This record gives sequence, C-alpha cells and structure tokens, in this order.
Amino acid sequence: MKRTTFPGELLVSLRRGEGQSLREQLEGELRTAIQRGRLTCGAALPSSRALAADLGVSRGVVVLAYDQLLAEGYLVASRGSATRVASRPPARPAIGVTDEPAAGPRYDFRPGLPDTSIFPRRAWLSSLRRVLAVPDVETALGYPDPQGARPARLAIAAYLNRTRGTVARAERTVLCTGFAQGLRLVCDVLRQRGVTRVAVEDPGHGGQRADIAAMGLRVSSVPVDDSGLRVDRLTRLNVGAVLVTPAHQFPTGVVMAPRRRQALLEWASRHDAIVIEDDYDAEFRFDREPVGTLQGLAEDHVAYIGSTSKTLAPALRIGWLLMPRRLVDRTALAKLHADHGSPTLDQLTLAEFITSGGLDRHLRKARLLYRRRRDAMVAALQSHLPASKVRGVAAGLHLMVALPAGTDEDAVLAAAEQRSMRIYGVGPHRARDAGAALLLGYASLPEADIRAGVALLASCLADKAPGTKPRPIALTRIWDPAERRLLAGIAAEASIGGERQRR
Ligand SMILES: Cc1ncc(COP(=O)(O)O)c(C=O)c1O
Repeated sequence: MKRTTFPGELLVSLRRGEGQSLREQLEGELRTAIQRGRLTCGAALPSSRALAADLGVSRGVVVLAYDQLLAEGYLVASRGSATRVASRPPARPAIGVTDEPAAGPRYDFRPGLPDTSIFPRRAWLSSLRRVLAVPDVETALGYPDPQGARPARLAIAAYLNRTRGTVARAERTVLCTGFAQGLRLVCDVLRQRGVTRVAVEDPGHGGQRADIAAMGLRVSSVPVDDSGLRVDRLTRLNVGAVLVTPAHQFPTGVVMAPRRRQALLEWASRHDAIVIEDDYDAEFRFDREPVGTLQGLAEDHVAYIGSTSKTLAPALRIGWLLMPRRLVDRTALAKLHADHGSPTLDQLTLAEFITSGGLDRHLRKARLLYRRRRDAMVAALQSHLPASKVRGVAAGLHLMVALPAGTDEDAVLAAAEQRSMRIYGVGPHRARDAGAALLLGYASLPEADIRAGVALLASCLADKAPGTKPRPIALTRIWDPAERRLLAGIAAEASIGGERQRR
C-alpha cells in the first residue's frame, strides 16, 4: 500500500491489484476528503507530477483524476496556478454512476461494445468547454433544429467524406440518437411513400428486424453468403427497401463483394428502391483495405446511417443519416415528430471534437488496442478450441465462431451463464436455422479476461457437446440483456395481475 501526505495532513492510500483502477481510487479518496472537509475550500493540491511521483503512479492517473473532479465541480484550476479545492464544492456528491455496480457476469462477451474506459473524457470535456465558451452559445440553447445543428452536420459530413468515401453534405444530413432511431425514421418515411415490405440480411441483426416490424412494415429475409447479400434473391421479392451492412456484415463479418454492390445499386435504381446502409463499425479494420460506402456511389438511392456507438460510446446516443434529396425534409419532419430534435450541446461538442482532431486521435488509439485484443482472442480460440471455425476477424469489434453441427446454442449460453460468463448466440439474428454459432465481442475486455473467458468457454462447450439434452432458457430469441430483463419484468407483472384478477 502506497501512502502520501499533502496539505492538511491528508493521507491517500492506493491498493494495487484490486478491482478498482488506481485512477478511480485516487478520484474516490480525493472526493471523499473534500466531502468530509478533510480538504478544505481553496486548499492547493500538489502538481500532478509531484503527486504522481509521491504515489508511484503515472502522471496520467493523477491528471485524469483531477480532470474528473474538475468536471464534477470539486476542484478549480486556472492557467499557471495550482489546482485547488473549489470554494463551493457541489452540495451533494456528483451522480455516483459506479456507486452501485449492477451485478453482472464476470466475463461479458457482448458483441460490438467498445471499451468505454478509454472514452476520451478530457478531450471531450475540453470540446464541451470550448462550445460553452462561444459568446453567442445562447442562440444554440433554444429548441433544436430537428435536422440537427448545422455546424455539427457540416463537421460530420466532412468527416464521413474524408474517412468513409461518402458524398455527404450538410443539407442532406439529419442527426438522430443512433442507428436504432435512424432506422425507425427511415421506416416512417418509407411507409409514408407507400412501401410495405423491407428486405433484411439473413443472418442479420435481430433487433433491427423487430424495429422494422414495429414500424408497421413487413420483413423479408434474404440469405447472405461469402460475398454478402444474395442480390439475385431480391428480384423475386416485392420490397421497396433493403437493409444491408456492406462494409462488415452483421453478424458474419463478410465484406460485400464489388459485383454484389454494383448489382444491389442497379436493383435499387431499376425499382426506385432505397438501400438502407448500416455503416456501424467500419472504422475498425485490422487486416484489410478500407471498404467505401454504397452512399458514395449512389446518393439518391441510399439512406446511410452511422453513429458514435462503436467509435466513442453507445451511451452518447448520437447518430446521423445521409438521405437522398427527395427524402430529407420528410426525415427531418419524422425526427421533429419523434422528439423535437437531438440535444444540441452534444452535437456541437462532437463537431468540435471532430474538427479539433480528437476523434482521429481517439480512433488511432482504439484501433491499436482492439487489434491486440482481437489477436488475443484469435490466439485463445486456436489454443482452447483448435477445431473451431472462426469468421469475421479482419474488422469490427466481434467475431463469429461456428459450433459443431448439432450443438444446442441455447444450452451452451445457459452453461456459460452458470459460470458467470455471458456469451451471445447467432440464433436471435437468424431467420432460418443454419447451425449454431457464437458471437464474441473482444473490444471491451482486457487480454487476460479474453484468455480466461475463452478457456471457460471451451469447458462449457465440452459439457454441451452435440446431442446433449437441450436446456431451454427463457426468452432466448431476445439477444439484448436489457430488453430480456424488461420483457421478463413485464411478463411477471402480467402474471401477477392475472393472478389478482382470478382471486
Ligand atoms: C449491426 C449494428 N448496427 C448498428 C448498431 C448501432 O446502433 P446504435 O447506433 O443505435 O447504438 C449496432 C449496435 O450494436 C449494430 O450491432
């Protein structure tokens, strides 16, 4: 245990090798000291360099802890003078997002989750500060433009044109709260234009299929092979739109082949149909050339949707649509009717973050980290499950592992859950049964956890070899744990209500 003293004889103790990171511990100690008055108003804190040397930690640990407490209002800093305890620290502790950690599994391999611990808090905070420091910021604080704040649309359009090969323009960009909302807005607009049926990939995201159906549209499944969507199957269906993940097919990881891309756009132009392009994780590619967007090839037939959910954090809920000209106003109107527009300050912060180079810097760092984790997962699978067939390793934040024929996917998931490990099957994302497979996200787990988790997975699979008796688990067709929890709660509520009525 390392101890140090500084003004006011305050003792800070950091414990190594424990669950909480050193930064979190330091942050917690300082916050408590201020709340309990052990560190008094105006007291100067040591420089980050001095405190880091004293505690034997890297300076970054102290800088991040100070930054967090600055953001919470416990500390104040001005250029050229020491960081001090604020003269009026917050009356209540700042929201304690980590005070009561939800009881969850030891290892969670949720696909597509970025590592939120590397969220660039400091840079994001500086961007927010810069936005708030603009003299006429009050003009941005009225009801938002339902299409999205124009500076944000400009910044996002320029970023997408540079990195994704789109032909985005601010006038055709609509901001929303993420892919999920973007898809619903497009469905709303399609329905108004008389579309009744939308094609989706099979396998393809189960939640999105449900979202389309919830918007009152019918869904047709089109198989995916090693070149992507079977475009030839589209011609037999009477659909007005098709949802695709061309850069990195979800969940298989396949890249849509150039011939298929061309055939798809020809189909859309021939039938005056809309291709809904989900570009969810294209920033993360490890061993392959970048794949441009369909929107860049046919802007009048593609509704392109992206978000910050993979690049930064899903909780930001910032997304964007690039729409064909004839659908832009309808989409903005649908957004107005949905929620009167997304939060302007968040949009402007993102715009500042992009234009100041923060997003590029963050992505460079994230790519390196995720590649190492991807490598660790591939190596662990090779060593613990050498016969497994692994797909989709070249890009994205997850990979897919095909299970031996006859394996009961749900039974494997249930066995994993009993060992405090949450894994996800491809089942909820398939329209037709085509064999069991697992989707393993690697981006949010440290390498040691990836290795330990895969070893545990191998033991679950050994227990659940083909032919073992299926062990059904509730609501297995719902992949999202939060949705599963809510539906189970509603079902329980309904059965209590029914019971009461019977009595
Ligand atoms: C295939 C796919 N598309 C898009 C998204 C992003 O959705 P959102 O922007 O609503 O968070 C996800 C997230 O998991 C996804 O898996």
